[in-house]
Amino acid sequence: MEKLCSVAIDGPAGAGKSTLARAAAKRFGFIYVDTGAIYRTVGLGCCRAGVDGSESGQVIALLPSMQIDLRHGGDGVQRMFLNGEDVSGEIRLPEVSRCASQVSAIPEVRAFLMEMQRSLARRNSVVMDGRDIGTVVLPDASVKIFLTADPRERARRRHAELREKGSSVTLDEVLRDMQERDERDSRRAAAPLRAAEDAVVLDTTGLSLEESLERICALIERGLG
Ligand code: DC
Repeated sequence: MEKLCSVAIDGPAGAGKSTLARAAAKRFGFIYVDTGAIYRTVGLGCCRAGVDGSESGQVIALLPSMQIDLRHGGDGVQRMFLNGEDVSGEIRLPEVSRCASQVSAIPEVRAFLMEMQRSLARRNSVVMDGRDIGTVVLPDASVKIFLTADPRERARRRHAELREKGSSVTLDEVLRDMQERDERDSRRAAAPLRAAEDAVVLDTTGLSLEESLERICALIERGLG
């Protein structure tokens, strides 16, 4: 049987994780798993039900009514489904980002989503990105990378992405939202954002996408031996 490999890429919002993880997965022929999209889908379920993401009792009560599915299309692109509906676009809205960060601090939400993430890595070679992949979800990952960049640069990248999608959000709003989210993701008690002890930290400030990708691929090659 073919040996399965797993690459864990963690880091704060806007560090370039998803773009780089997707490109690296393509290069190595692995599947790309965006775990933030899974938390975003729970966040969207709460927004739709009018439940505040910080009301943990109400969020937990809502979980059994949420059927969350992750599917990869023939193009390798991951799509998210909430109760059968494709919500891959809607989960990117800024209000869903905030709610996803809030619900992700709830241990019951993390437990609810854990098996889904681990089972993907049991069945496939994966590049998985998130906040706790190297520390909690895949502690035995073959390669662990912690991707970071200066907050202003991360906000600029996220702002450009949102503007491209037609959003009128300002750079300051993006920076404020991002810092608030990073703070919450890092300070929470349950699986906080931090680099695993055996992760390689890669700061992409000042690096182009191509340069960052080359560094990541070199780390993966080295890690896979
Ligand atoms: O990667 P992202 O920005 O799409 O993630 C949205 C939120 O989900 C993020 O603010 C924190 C949470 N998250 C998490 O707690 N653990 C993960 N493995 C991935 C995301």
